Amino acid sequence: MNILVTGGTGYIGSHTCIALLESGHSVIIADNLSNSKSESIKKIIDISKKEVTFFEIDVTDEEAVDHIFRNHEIDGVIHFAGLKAVGESVEKPLEYYYNNVVSTMVLTKACQTYGVNRFVFSSSATVYGDNTVPFVETMSLLPTTNPYGETKAMSERILTDFANVNPSFSVSLLRYFNPVGAHESGLIGESPNGIPNNLMPYVTQVAKGKLHNLRVFGNDYPTIDGTGIRDYIHVLDLAEGHVAALENQTEGVHVYNLGTGKGTSVLELVKAFEEANDIEVPFEIVDRRPGDIASCYAETSKAKRELGWSAKRDIVTMCRDAWRFEKNNME
Ligand code: NAD
Ligand code: UFG
Repeated sequence: MNILVTGGTGYIGSHTCIALLESGHSVIIADNLSNSKSESIKKIIDISKKEVTFFEIDVTDEEAVDHIFRNHEIDGVIHFAGLKAVGESVEKPLEYYYNNVVSTMVLTKACQTYGVNRFVFSSSATVYGDNTVPFVETMSLLPTTNPYGETKAMSERILTDFANVNPSFSVSLLRYFNPVGAHESGLIGESPNGIPNNLMPYVTQVAKGKLHNLRVFGNDYPTIDGTGIRDYIHVLDLAEGHVAALENQTEGVHVYNLGTGKGTSVLELVKAFEEANDIEVPFEIVDRRPGDIASCYAETSKAKRELGWSAKRDIVTMCRDAWRFEKNNME
């Protein structure tokens, strides 16, 4: 298939492009490089030994998107492009709603105009809000505590409403849990701008001595050791989940959790990182971070049953691969 990958130079998008190319698909990337670099393209080509087509465009730009659909035979869209910093979304709600929701509408409209019937959307476990774990696809969505989460819930709704009146349209709403790790080559991985918000990039930067020590946000949650529990998933497993979703897509709306089903606490992750890489990660316990929930992990049987996909890489592999990328790539 010929797949348009929006946000394809970003963290999850670049790993997914490689997985698509390795599975024999062709890739057209559309990215405005607002949170990634064009060198990503060269790395995707180096790793996969395949060519890709790249358009530096904003996917909220209807004309630019139309130009791509008009001039290329597209079989499906994977829509990664989006702003993703939860805290920033509270500061800049309009920017988040515009970028994340309008991009979904523009792409869906182009699919309608050009008869493209496969769509895969990057959603997030954040749409479950503070439901009871494990999160199951059939649960009612709860309000999230930030505009970012709302843009994901809104995009899911837009795609669902569109699919409901266009029976030949297939849409997969993929709810990611906590993607971490990097390609085993150490060439691509997560390189956030500024001080990382997320745990794993913060841990790797502390290990490297770039940041002083990890601040563990709260040790009084109702969890095994009081620290927050998350479902960390290797980004390569996540990438393979997208290929499985695309290749097994059937008409209608399908929601899948992409996680491992296993919860890991902050302190467990720190310990796993230290043991996997034989390096110390100094930390201190500080107050809870506003908006955090105690536990978030997936019920994963639907993806396994319907897509034949499940995550294979363990927490040690995630820690090793994240560290290899950090050592190779960050100043
Ligand atoms: P990322 O920032 O590395 O990648 C997103 C890419 O989209 C970037 O390359 C950016 O330049 C591009 N982009 C943003 N807005 C654009 C626009 N209007 N037009 C064109 N390009 C645009 O982020 P990521 O971690 O790879 O996340 C990919 C998707 O997965 C996002 O939609 C994100 O919300 C979602 N997601 C991520 C996580 C996570 O923890 N990383 C969790 C759940 C969901
Ligand atoms: N944490 C720390 N110290 C840090 C960073 C994080 O203790 O410096 C803790 C958090 O309190 C939480 C856990 O580590 O308990 C994971 O936090 P992250 O910021 O890495 O991830 P979140 O679960 O908060 O959110 C991530 C993405 C969201 C996405 C969500 C989906 O940032 O975009 O996963 O589950 F929606």
